[in-house]
Amino acid sequence: PSSSRPPAITSESMDEILGGRRMRRNRGSDWSRRLVRETVLTVHDLIWPIFVVEGTGIRQAVASMPGVERLSVDEAVKDAVKAESLGIPVLALFPYTDDALRDASGSEALNPQNLVCRACREIKKLGLNIGLMTDVALDPYTSHGHDGLLDGETILNDETVDQLCRQALTQVEAGSDIIGPSDMMDGRVAAIRGSLDNAGLRHTQIMAYTAKYASAFYGPFRDAIGTNATLIGDKRTYQMDCGNTDEAIREAELDISEGADMIMVKPGLPYLDIVWRLKESFRMPTYAYQVSGEFAMIEAANANGWIDGERAMLESLMAFKRAGADGILTYFAPRVAKLLTERT
Ligand code: PBG
Repeated sequence: PSSSRPPAITSESMDEILGGRRMRRNRGSDWSRRLVRETVLTVHDLIWPIFVVEGTGIRQAVASMPGVERLSVDEAVKDAVKAESLGIPVLALFPYTDDALRDASGSEALNPQNLVCRACREIKKLGLNIGLMTDVALDPYTSHGHDGLLDGETILNDETVDQLCRQALTQVEAGSDIIGPSDMMDGRVAAIRGSLDNAGLRHTQIMAYTAKYASAFYGPFRDAIGTNATLIGDKRTYQMDCGNTDEAIREAELDISEGADMIMVKPGLPYLDIVWRLKESFRMPTYAYQVSGEFAMIEAANANGWIDGERAMLESLMAFKRAGADGILTYFAPRVAKLLTERT
């Protein structure tokens, strides 16, 4: 019955309810939204991971990562030039090692002529204004796909660290600027820092994969470097358990005290709480890795017409910045850099 109807809402009655506070005023125009935006994404926030493969003139599609290709060294050099022209500060290099070169101890990791080292050398020759980051871990080189040396089913810590130190030296000698230990062995940051310093390589930076979780989101990356085929078992005895936060704090304390210059959280979007906590706790240069599976999800949904991939890409990268990340390793790097430079 009409007698029980509440009084009509009018602008005057709303003024009274709101007391003049209308949050939507600042959202009313594009210029105003830009003016009040707290977080910005720039090309300087991007680290671009690329995959290197044997051969010349090769750009090989990775099926589970649309738009991402494995590049022969000469093509990688071209992308390094592109990275510089887009203003991307760092390229991260990952190798697809020929099966014939993979063995139980990952000995190819120590070969100064391996793919990553050759790519570093060739890119460095150009004297570009970009940094090169290389991954320290044995998985692209081992026949069992693990990041360390195996004894039966056990991944050996200390023996692996010894080899990782030598791998890091090999990479820095080839031109790597930033060592990224992604292996999650205990004590590797201190050991690597020590051997670099011993060799007089005091200025090489270390970006520690500090909180690296055992994750289902690495699947497409393992396609890209060919370790899905080789990996025996899983990496849960060295990568972190997804239920843990305090452990990430302890890992960060250790990495920082061992000499890490920068810390990283991986995967990215499902672990923004960790990014936030580490940044709040340590105030270190803190990075997030938007890993292959995160990239693939956005691409797959976009390909199906289920989301606007470009907007999802930008929104996801903004979320990292909002959570406190100083930068993001992302396969979207060249695309987003192009968008950002076109817009300004
Ligand atoms: C290996 C390494 C991995 C990634 C970077 N370095 C995979 C793994 O730990 O199995 C994953 C990156 C991605 O998924 O994009 N040490």
